[in-house]
Amino acid sequence: MAEKIYSSKIVELGGQVGDFIAAANMIIMFEESLALPELRDACVMHTGNELSGMIKPGNIYKIAGTEFKIVKVGSEVQKNLMNLGHITIKFDGGSGELLEGSIHVEEKPVPTIKAGDMIEIFKREDKRIADGSWLGLKGKTAVVTGAASGIGKAVAQAFLDNGANVVVCDLNPNEPEFNITEDSGKVKYVITNVAEAASVEAMVKTALDTFG
Ligand SMILES: NC(=O)c1ccc[n+]([C@@H]2O[C@H](COP(=O)([O-])OP(=O)(O)OC[C@H]3O[C@@H](n4cnc5c(N)ncnc54)[C@H](O)[C@@H]3O)[C@@H](O)[C@H]2O)c1
Repeated sequence: MAEKIYSSKIVELGGQVGDFIAAANMIIMFEESLALPELRDACVMHTGNELSGMIKPGNIYKIAGTEFKIVKVGSEVQKNLMNLGHITIKFDGGSGELLEGSIHVEEKPVPTIKAGDMIEIFKREDKRIADGSWLGLKGKTAVVTGAASGIGKAVAQAFLDNGANVVVCDLNPNEPEFNITEDSGKVKYVITNVAEAASVEAMVKTALDTFG
């Protein structure tokens, strides 16, 4: 049974919601009590807005009983949905430009939406990937250098997503944020200069002390 990570109930449809669906294959959600007056006409307003997990590609977006696979997730979606209940859903299969506050879902007809219908998101990850068994990384430890940003950070996240613990090393004193779930590995951040042998040796010691 897929785990539900988001739930909210539609209470009102702005006058332009039907036009947005017909002309642009999109809906804009806003938590009813927070919806800006100038946006209400364009929005599907809802109440409840309970979010308990990370929204990721592969999750299922369900509205008015119809399920859509999520294919892309903008960088601000998690925060905007949590704080405002406000994101845009594009039913375009991911072909359009990805904006920060949008998710793109598979392209198929949008059902008729009315007050009282539910909006829900379910976690539906490939279990082989989530538990790391297909790569054999579960419980192992990776050291990723230069991992406070860019490519290194993405590599560290990929190891975490596949169950490995990660020693994240960087010159940067600001610890980066990673998405951690119950299936992922753990992070140990170690400020390290890979150009200095003593710094690398200290990092390796910390790695062994932390993860064995
Ligand atoms: N070949 C290609 O096609 C290609 C494409 C993109 C990036 N790159 C190269 O890959 C590298 C990484 O790119 P990025 O976009 O992730 O860059 P980035 O600047 O986002 O990340 C580099 C990280 O390394 C850290 N760092 C720098 N010196 C360090 C040191 N001595 N010890 C520990 N950490 C240190 C930085 O603090 C930073 O967090 C760069 O050298 C970039 O030029 C190559």
